[in-house]
Amino acid sequence: MPRRPDVPVYRPDIYSPRAILDPYPHYAALRELGPVVRLPKHNAYALPRYAECRAALLDHKTFVSGDGVGLNPVINRLSRGTTLTSDGEDHTRRRALVAHRLTPRALRDLTDDIRRRADEIVAAAVARRTVDGAELAAALPLSVVPDLVGWPQEGREHLLTWGAATFDALGPANGQAVKAIPAGLAMMRFARDVVRHRTALPGSMGADLLTAADNGTLTHAECPALMIDYLAPSLDTTLSGIAGALHLFATHPAQWQHLRQDPTLIPNAVNEVLRFASPLRAFSRKVAHDTELAGTALPAGTRVLVLYASANRDPLVWEDPDTFTIHRNASRHLAFGQGKHGCAGQGLARLETEAFLAALVARVATLAPAGPPRWSPNNIIHRLEHLPLELTPA
Ligand code: HEM
Repeated sequence: MPRRPDVPVYRPDIYSPRAILDPYPHYAALRELGPVVRLPKHNAYALPRYAECRAALLDHKTFVSGDGVGLNPVINRLSRGTTLTSDGEDHTRRRALVAHRLTPRALRDLTDDIRRRADEIVAAAVARRTVDGAELAAALPLSVVPDLVGWPQEGREHLLTWGAATFDALGPANGQAVKAIPAGLAMMRFARDVVRHRTALPGSMGADLLTAADNGTLTHAECPALMIDYLAPSLDTTLSGIAGALHLFATHPAQWQHLRQDPTLIPNAVNEVLRFASPLRAFSRKVAHDTELAGTALPAGTRVLVLYASANRDPLVWEDPDTFTIHRNASRHLAFGQGKHGCAGQGLARLETEAFLAALVARVATLAPAGPPRWSPNNIIHRLEHLPLELTPA
């Protein structure tokens, strides 16, 4: 990629082992440098501010996903064939295959069941009083999503490891990504077996995909990647959001009391959690033809990094962005992306997180840290892997 002296350059590695645990100081430095910043270490241009992230996400013909959304050219080649990594007609066709499972009407049918499960999970946690919030956060997504996607019982114990690895591999070609390859391949092998042996649960998304393949709407070879397309991003992300909520409310007790006093704030609280602690930090796009963004020329072939998590802390858009407050209107956040590739599962993610918070509000008077939290190292997902909490029943 030719060097352009006018574009600011940021040399620190924003995917170093330390940076992935706390990327926010890097994001602040990038936003300060400008709207488009060259990252020589990753051979890419970062978009750290809200306006340019949004503009790139909305201009899907210029900033394309079909050549992958990661920072690693090999994984970008290998990960083709999913909804996430396709453009145009292919993308529309793939996204439509299971869209009916995630419409507001379909989700309405799941609502009572998800609320009941959330309440049972929270009731059991309150009875224990001291819990690992990371485990607690995983319980609801794990009880809902694998059935919906149609993943057979066998192999479910690996889902979290496999899902995390699938994300990790989409970072740059660093030690993290290399470590993730075996688990990513194991998940792909398992998905191929599910398709080959037709073991997807009846009435699930996986079963819909097999039917679509039987009818010729897609090929059987496309099915495994599409199953992973829905399973991988639906666990780690949602449990990161729920664990993020537990952590933020435990460390902001006044905000917790505000939420208890006025539970109608729950939908906005979910937005604020996702803005403040965005589960998915960044994905990339490839520039399809010569273009310009915020006055910076970007030739065809350039890789740009859309930093959702940084956009969500941009002081040009958010007042006092580093303050967590459920009273701000956070609905414009980019934690679910935006435009054609905006998260296909955001209705489900919101439903699960809102149901969880509603159960917590009903049953928990206070939640307090019971030890230091630990963040999970992952190139893409910002998630707590250990969160000791003390819950006091309401
Ligand atoms: C809090 C939870 C979640 C977060 C933060 C999240 C975040 C995102 C983001 C940022 C994107 C955009 C990717 C891009 O711009 O290229 C995305 C896409 C996607 N998400 Fe989610 N997600 C969540 C939950 C879910 C769930 C529960 C599902 C499945 C049921 C899901 C399925 C997908 C799919 C299939 C795409 C690709 C859409 C496309 O390319 O058209 N996500 N998600």
